[in-house]
Amino acid sequence: MKLPIYLDYNATTPVDPRVFEAMTPYFTQVFGNAASRSHSFGRQAEAAVLHARNQVAALLNAEQDERLGAREIIWTSGATEGNNLAIKGVAEAYAEKGRHFITQTTEHKAVLDPFKRLATQGWDVTVLPVDAGGRVSAKQVADAIRPDTVLVSIMYANNEVGTVQPIREIGAVCKERGVIFHTDATQAVGKLPIDVQADGIDLLSLSAHKLYGPKGAGALYVRKKNPRVRMAPLFDGGAHERGFRSGTLNVPGIVGLGMACEIAAHELVNERLRLSALRDRLQSSLKQRVDPVAVNGDERNRLPHVANLSFPGVDGTSLLNALDDVAVSSGSACTSASLAASHVLLAMGLGEARAHCAIRFSLGRFTTIEEIDYVVEKFAAIIPRLREEHGTDGQACAPQADLRPAT
Ligand SMILES: Cc1ncc(COP(=O)(O)O)c(C=O)c1O
Repeated sequence: MKLPIYLDYNATTPVDPRVFEAMTPYFTQVFGNAASRSHSFGRQAEAAVLHARNQVAALLNAEQDERLGAREIIWTSGATEGNNLAIKGVAEAYAEKGRHFITQTTEHKAVLDPFKRLATQGWDVTVLPVDAGGRVSAKQVADAIRPDTVLVSIMYANNEVGTVQPIREIGAVCKERGVIFHTDATQAVGKLPIDVQADGIDLLSLSAHKLYGPKGAGALYVRKKNPRVRMAPLFDGGAHERGFRSGTLNVPGIVGLGMACEIAAHELVNERLRLSALRDRLQSSLKQRVDPVAVNGDERNRLPHVANLSFPGVDGTSLLNALDDVAVSSGSACTSASLAASHVLLAMGLGEARAHCAIRFSLGRFTTIEEIDYVVEKFAAIIPRLREEHGTDGQACAPQADLRPAT
């Protein structure tokens, strides 16, 4: 077993060696611009991009096209861009139809912040509350839809607690009411089976670096029929990607994303079982060894590889500092630099104390049982010591933190 141990796969994943191998020729040998159809360099690059479109589409059950490649896949730089394009692009394109949007409170900042900007520009945004496990219901969405509602954006699965939303039910409500349905599926793609047809999804953001592909590559699924979704582009230029996203394509990144999706499609079923068994072992061992431990999130509707646990009496930041050879996180990667309690845990009503003693474990493809057992031993050694040192410190998570179950 090699140290340090990485249990922060929700922040980012290593590139799978098979993905890296597939990408390599596209840096130095097949380096053409995929838009340069006048010569073989460009055409070879274009063929690789076309193949990758179908690989991504296959994982989502989007429409594939042998000749043109799946045209519903729009390449982006990642999920932040995909979310911005979906939300702001739809807002601009449908401004005449209506100016009301619906989302929910535990979304990633890459969804909440585009909505915040729209709100300052005169759009009306309803942010639905979640239950104690972090879920919204399809009924909440149905009740919030108005005649001027244009788009509903609800994430597939949460990055901090792993809670999976009732996507298929929400998709059905949106279909019935003629509202566009966007989902930020960054943490779910490749981990759960996703079917844009059965789930009623019109727009879906994903990111390569969360599924063993490279950083800086991503895709937005944009439905082409029933309905044909319109979007204004975020930037203007050469009208690549059906005019939705101008800019020379990142061919190696796209090839990597395609390969990452193909591998995920093959391995998803077994990997889901393997990871949930490891995660359950971690969670139950920690409950035994360093009781009390509270589970944050919805245990019945949770990503297989995620456990967000609160250790009362232990401040999350002190714990991270004491863990020299285990990489976990105390919030989402993007906000863990700030000391503010996680907006996700607060939205779930868990309180500041419980939020400050929360640790996110996210397991992945290269996690082994030996690593899990090592991490349990490590926590069993550190937690009692920190509880003694910090238990009564006002800054630390209070020992009497609310431990009611999250679901
Ligand atoms: C749910 C969710 N959405 C969006 C993002 C942003 O993705 P990217 O890093 O590809 O911009 C992340 C990454 O942390 C995420 O977890």
